[in-house]
Amino acid sequence: MSKTNIAVLGAQWGDEGKGKIVDMLTPHFSTVARYQGGHNAGHTVYVQGKKFVLHLIPSGILHPKVTCIIGNGVVIDPQALFKEIDELARMGISVDGRLLISEKAHVILPYHRELDVLSEARRGERKIGTTSRGIGPAYEDKIGRRGIRICDMLGDRAALQEEVRENVNARNRIIKDSTLDWKPLFDQLLASGERIRPWATDVSLFLAQQMKEGKAVMFEGAQATLLDIDHGTYPFVTSSNASVGGVCTGLGVPPRAIGGVLGVAKAYTTRVGEGPLPTELSGALADRLRESGQEYGASTGRPRRCGWYDAVVVRYSARINGLDALALTKLDVLDGLDDVNICTGYKTANGIVTEFPADLRALNGATPIYETMPGWKTPTKGATTVEQLPPEAQRYVRRLEEVSGVDCAIISTGSDRAETIVRPDSVVAGWLA
Ligand code: GDP
Ligand code: IMO
Ligand code: MG
Repeated sequence: MSKTNIAVLGAQWGDEGKGKIVDMLTPHFSTVARYQGGHNAGHTVYVQGKKFVLHLIPSGILHPKVTCIIGNGVVIDPQALFKEIDELARMGISVDGRLLISEKAHVILPYHRELDVLSEARRGERKIGTTSRGIGPAYEDKIGRRGIRICDMLGDRAALQEEVRENVNARNRIIKDSTLDWKPLFDQLLASGERIRPWATDVSLFLAQQMKEGKAVMFEGAQATLLDIDHGTYPFVTSSNASVGGVCTGLGVPPRAIGGVLGVAKAYTTRVGEGPLPTELSGALADRLRESGQEYGASTGRPRRCGWYDAVVVRYSARINGLDALALTKLDVLDGLDDVNICTGYKTANGIVTEFPADLRALNGATPIYETMPGWKTPTKGATTVEQLPPEAQRYVRRLEEVSGVDCAIISTGSDRAETIVRPDSVVAGWLA
């Protein structure tokens, strides 16, 4: 059992394999706590050939004794939550007695989904490429101080009725020809509240007690640093703080509770939706990565855009999050390539850029500067020690560490739990000892 509470979060644009890494680390923790995002996330975990896709429920849930927490920073669509819980039950996983949901978490309502779709349509070619789950509009209502929280669904009925009526009326004024009726929505919220009631609690208090008893907590991020509302490629981002700051605000834990930060990065780069991806590939090579990496969205099924590993991005993530180490995933997807590239900077009209810029216009027409290294023909797939990796793959990882400024404590060589290298001399091994 770990003695350190750690955060595990995405260091690129999402889908790095956070689910797999959280799942394989979970046996060392008592509790896994999700701190932001919603069911826009899709975390895939394979256990002995069986596939699980988690959206709202932390990826620790597949381990029977672990408590899983959904923090106040998460936005919850009750129907999506129930669907996920029912699906897990069908697959033999029960959340009973080990799921806790923050009373302060905000709720995604059906009209948030509608507003999401309308907003995207209004943006036309400038669209974000959202997951259409209503995430942005739900966070807008939260920040606008008109959101509905889990505790509102469980308390004073008259107050909830008033809030729902006010919100629906306001929405009807915004959306042309909209005549949404508040009553069915109110009834649905009451019914959902009754199902959620046994799980709802003061998550911050629970975590404080756990940590006082010396039990280790893993803080689980969704999305990723480059999709963070503050530090990502704005406006092509999600609407929450996916980077490490989100842990404190999204769970009500103090910064000193975070004993270590593990960034998850793919051995190449992918992105779903719109926005810059400086190392993006097209043609046969992109198709090759997409097919061998099975790069299709776990939530929406959209093909992911694929490119080479971008050390500018990961170095930026290391700074923003104070990464202690990386979990490098999907190294096996590069197996068999003649050459592999690492991006170390961008050539732009205004010179060479090596720090990720705030203004995306600085990336217009940017061409990546690559270091090309020999690929490897001996597969890395399934390797469980560094020594099993072909020398070229070892050199690739070493160079990637140098230019990213952070070491790979974990190397993932396949989607199954077992297909993982944890370096025995690494900071992660120390956390787990
Ligand atoms: P997440 O959102 O960060 O949890 O990542 P996703 O689950 O959306 O996408 C990662 C995909 O890669 C999933 O289908 C995983 O099963 C798969 N995966 C994770 N690690 C590895 C790996 O090391 N090798 C391969 N081939 N697949 C992996
Ligand atoms: P996981 O946790 C990859 C992207 C969307 C879109 C942008 C905004 O599986 O890594 P939103 O619906 O959040 O308003 O969409 O963010 N996005 C993700 N991309 N992985 C995710 O989650 C994502 N969640 C949102 O594609 O570009
Ligand atoms: Mg995903």
